Amino acid sequence: MTATVRSLGYVVIGTTDLAAWRTFAPQVLGMELVEHTETSLRFRMDEFGYRFQVEEGAPEGVHTLGWGVKGADELTELIAHIEKYGYTVTRHGQGSELAAARNVKEVATLSDPDGLTIELFHAFEEALTPFVSPVGTSFVADRELGMGHIFQMVSDPEKYNEFYRDVLGFRLSDYIGPATFYHCNPRHHSFAFVPAPKPEMQRVHHIMMETTDLDGVGRAIDAMKAAGAPETATLGKHTNDKMISFYVQTPSKVSIEYGTGGIFIDDETWVPTQYSSAHYWGHDREDA
Ligand SMILES: [Fe+2]
Repeated sequence: MTATVRSLGYVVIGTTDLAAWRTFAPQVLGMELVEHTETSLRFRMDEFGYRFQVEEGAPEGVHTLGWGVKGADELTELIAHIEKYGYTVTRHGQGSELAAARNVKEVATLSDPDGLTIELFHAFEEALTPFVSPVGTSFVADRELGMGHIFQMVSDPEKYNEFYRDVLGFRLSDYIGPATFYHCNPRHHSFAFVPAPKPEMQRVHHIMMETTDLDGVGRAIDAMKAAGAPETATLGKHTNDKMISFYVQTPSKVSIEYGTGGIFIDDETWVPTQYSSAHYWGHDREDA
């Protein structure tokens, strides 16, 4: 198979408190607010028009993941491949309402094994103006690496192995205990999952965003404390991707892992390993 997902393009997040997002994302995360509609906001972190779309009234938390493919031919090939596994895919071509709404040329939609909406797109529109962080932070995010990573708590790991590895073409990065990490570009992982301890915990647990330097992380910790936003894990260093990060609760039912220093994978030389712990140090959690 040659057609695969290339990068994480965007996430769509439902909220009951759009006003809280309006200050949280710029002040704590350093994202740039883009006015969108009466009931939704967009936030930028790089040259693209948005990376987060936050919608009032939509299902709470991350309900849609937008994954980028290379072009129209690759999308056609990937859809045919996905359908062989029994998934139903709907293609919204150029000029369609959904493609226009997402700022892409074409988008194809399907449901992941737990019912999360997956959108496969190509030709994501860049903004006309440069990204300007209100707090002066810059991110490790671009066309090749995508916006970061997703960590999901899932019902059935075997279904997710099949979905991300066999269906969407991700490559194995490594394992930490029961968690599995996959990459689709040089970023160590763009998607990871762990079995949910309880069915009601099945959801996207966190979105990772990576700053270009440690100062960006330090400023965000100060800003989180100043804003009174709940810290869900303290500063720590991950064993597998070497990321130094902390976790903060958003105004929706999803956390942000905010870090720096993640490693990149060269598929020519990479050997997946198994780690018994996720942390060299830190990442203390109240429930841990
Ligand atoms: Fe993570």
